[in-house]
Amino acid sequence: MVFEVRDWDGAGRLGELEVPRSGVTVETPALMPVVNPHVQTVDPGRLESEFGAEILITNAYVLHGSDDLRDDVLERGVHDVLGFDGAVVTDSGSFQLAEYGDVDVDTQEIIQFQLDIGSGVGTPVDVPTPPDVPRERAEAELAETQDRLELADSLETGDMLVNAPIQGSTYSDLRESAARHADGTGLDVFPVGAMVPLLNDYRYGEVIEAVTAAKRGLGTDRPVHLFGAGHPMMFALAVAAGCDLFDSAAYALYARDDRYLTARGTHRLDELDYLPCSCPVCATHDPGSLRALDGEARHERLAEHNLHASFAEIRRVKQAIRAGNLLELVEERARSHPAMADGYRALLERGEQLEATDPASKGTFFYVSGESADRPEVRRHHDRLSRLPVSGEVLLAEELSGIEDEYDEVWRVVPPFGPTPSALHETYPMTAELPSRLADRAFERAADGVARLADENPEASLTLVHRGWPDSALGQVPEDVELIDLAGT
Ligand code: GUN
Ligand code: ZN
Repeated sequence: MVFEVRDWDGAGRLGELEVPRSGVTVETPALMPVVNPHVQTVDPGRLESEFGAEILITNAYVLHGSDDLRDDVLERGVHDVLGFDGAVVTDSGSFQLAEYGDVDVDTQEIIQFQLDIGSGVGTPVDVPTPPDVPRERAEAELAETQDRLELADSLETGDMLVNAPIQGSTYSDLRESAARHADGTGLDVFPVGAMVPLLNDYRYGEVIEAVTAAKRGLGTDRPVHLFGAGHPMMFALAVAAGCDLFDSAAYALYARDDRYLTARGTHRLDELDYLPCSCPVCATHDPGSLRALDGEARHERLAEHNLHASFAEIRRVKQAIRAGNLLELVEERARSHPAMADGYRALLERGEQLEATDPASKGTFFYVSGESADRPEVRRHHDRLSRLPVSGEVLLAEELSGIEDEYDEVWRVVPPFGPTPSALHETYPMTAELPSRLADRAFERAADGVARLADENPEASLTLVHRGWPDSALGQVPEDVELIDLAGT
């Protein structure tokens, strides 16, 4: 199985996933539109030619259970039946298992069927354990899922890639050990499963906890799919946490409910006075003319817009990785909804995981909110500099004040960054663009750095020159650091 990462930003990456059976290489992050074999809101051929889809996902369980389609798809193959030349991923019926409590296939049978219909990536019948269940149930169902992954691994699957879904409900330690187990099988792609109930309830903080837990158990070279995530609002966040593949049933489901997707959230068609998009649908309609269409035509146009908005966001995310400003995009998206702010904070709480793969130098760091102070680039800068020794009389200066000559060493302090030797002052990330009105959090972060430096160098005598730092920051500076406040001078 070949998955190659080309570029990193945080834990987000641009990569290439080879799907040998479909004869294609897919650029990731990738959005896989969900194609319902019975109801095709947008023709799969058009997904490729008009929307640029390189990969889609359909349901082998539905095909297997369909008297109309089963023989046809066995004879002609899933690519031909759908009229799609890109990569085809198939799901197994596990979603139906979660919805209806039972399915009438097992892993062996559905893997064989997926092989027989020419699927590029097949899926065993994992058990999607919902959030918030008792731990005993999560453990028992995870054990069952793991047995099924091992069974799938033992089957003859030729060059079909096979998904290894990671379950564990809302228990991070179970997610992590499930991921470690999945990583140890010979399976190929690693979906984080049973996310739909969390996504539907906008529990993005917990989605990110599940993803970051799974990532801790997986090698960095493993492709990760966030099962059931199709809202463009959270693509940047999920990519920054390390997800490579998304599937969208949302484009069609929301359309059928007259809802219009944007990267900043969802709108009801009823309440829109303007269309904030210039896709082919929005360029040729206004909300009134869309509302005037009959049901089917309206739902098709909305589904097309929803797909355009979703693919546009994926391209924006890719460009952001290339430019090294994915976290700025995540931070922007985090402002769209309180639940997204939660997701972003959950991600920042795992800063050490982002930092492990984050490039040491990127484009200019843009500080755009108090949360920027907690970004992994700031954390790394603090960690790096805390290892440099200082001695003698040391001036830590937020700005120059004319007393520099009286000191053995002069370091600069630029909140949210910590004390930095002058020689490193013009290097990344100190070249950051900062507003002149910083949030208190930025000063607190800088004060942390001062405290750390004082702690590591008990022999040095430190003086901090600052301009009106808030008490919440000064309170963190050790008492033996002399303070000079330039405010009012
Ligand atoms: N579709 C949405 N969630 C899941 C999941 O957890 N497992 C599988 N196989 N399909 C899904
Ligand atoms: Zn549009």
